[in-house]
Amino acid sequence: LWRQRADLVAAGYLRRDPLARLRLRPGREDPYAIYEQMRAAGPLLPTRFGNLSTTSHRICDSVLRDRRFGVRPVERVDRYDDFDLSFLDMNPPDHTRLRRLAQPAFSPKATAGYRERVERTVHTLLDRAGDEFDLVSAYAAPLPIAVITDLLGVPDANAEEFARYGMVIGSALDGIRGLRHAARLEANDAKLRALFEHLIELRRREPADDIVSRLVAVEGDQIKPAEVQPMCVLLLIAGFETTTNLIGNAVLALQRNPDQWRALCDDPAGLAPKAVEEALRYDPPVQRTSRVALEPVDLDGQVIHKGQWVFTLIGGANRDPEVYDRPAEFDLERERSVDHLAFSSGIHYCVGQPLARLEATIALQVLAERRPGLRLAGRVRRRNATTIRGPLRLPVAG
Ligand code: HEM
Repeated sequence: LWRQRADLVAAGYLRRDPLARLRLRPGREDPYAIYEQMRAAGPLLPTRFGNLSTTSHRICDSVLRDRRFGVRPVERVDRYDDFDLSFLDMNPPDHTRLRRLAQPAFSPKATAGYRERVERTVHTLLDRAGDEFDLVSAYAAPLPIAVITDLLGVPDANAEEFARYGMVIGSALDGIRGLRHAARLEANDAKLRALFEHLIELRRREPADDIVSRLVAVEGDQIKPAEVQPMCVLLLIAGFETTTNLIGNAVLALQRNPDQWRALCDDPAGLAPKAVEEALRYDPPVQRTSRVALEPVDLDGQVIHKGQWVFTLIGGANRDPEVYDRPAEFDLERERSVDHLAFSSGIHYCVGQPLARLEATIALQVLAERRPGLRLAGRVRRRNATTIRGPLRLPVAG
């Protein structure tokens, strides 16, 4: 009966707002079925609150690249909200100025320098994991946490605390669910900001070789003192949940496609980068983002009014049959003539993607080298979220 009612409610929602259906349990388990229903209904669908959503790769890409769209309405450009995430939530020119400061830490050269640190961490984690372990808590989660806290120069003794608060705040990426969630976010946000204030103070006095020191070195010139700490919070939060979910989604897809796992084990170094790219396409950790029209825009013959939002459903775009053959198949050797949108597109294209790719590639390569007999060993629990997608628990053995 409960299920029937849920289905009826869902059917009503779907008619009025396909996005709402993604929030119900079946949608959270398998959003891809819903993206296909949406695709069949048209490339640009109205949502219940007068906005639009799209699963079209072409339209997602063009909206994300179009400077007539922003991440917030122009009127709000200078206002900071409680959970604003620095330049991810800003339009140019502030976005351009702050992004430029973060970029050098993720350049190809800088990223190559992190390889050894990542390899060391991955091996230590696997040494510690027994024959049966939860791939998320023992492997996929601690790796990005160790790497990003290291880059930020968070002292080892505090790393766990930073990660704990950061994880709670990261849950705001999926929207704020009720007053209790809001209160929890606020409490954790205050604690994390206090920790960063402390660290920033320390680096003003005693600079070291880390991102925080590099930011405070240009304080007052290229970055306002009040902008340093939100940028640190952004780098912390954007960097770990997403990478954790990428590794989790990749291992899950490989385990559910045993021929692909065997292929990877036969050639770990050669195929790990391809496995990462295919996992990013097939089951992206960030399933959607959105843009608001800063002026009227003609999109695919439809006028988008100023202030109207377009939800760009990355998870749907990455399986668009217009750009991918057999889009629902996980295939390491697929032809990659069109980029997936897992890291978005345009001016907000993920600044940390070289690091995310490096971490996930090494994680998969070493797992295949050291645990070729890996298999799923229990019920997979998914994260209760629609924007961020990945397993919360992934029991494995081998
Ligand atoms: C932006 C995904 C890892 C830092 C983004 C965006 C996406 C994304 C989709 C753009 C959102 C939008 O267009 O609205 C991912 C995924 C990752 C990952 C799937 C891992 C698999 C990282 C890492 C870092 C990072 C490791 C840094 C340590 C950022 C930052 C932005 C961003 C700072 C804001 C860029 C801007 O607004 O210009 N990421 N990310 N991300 N990401 Fe990542």
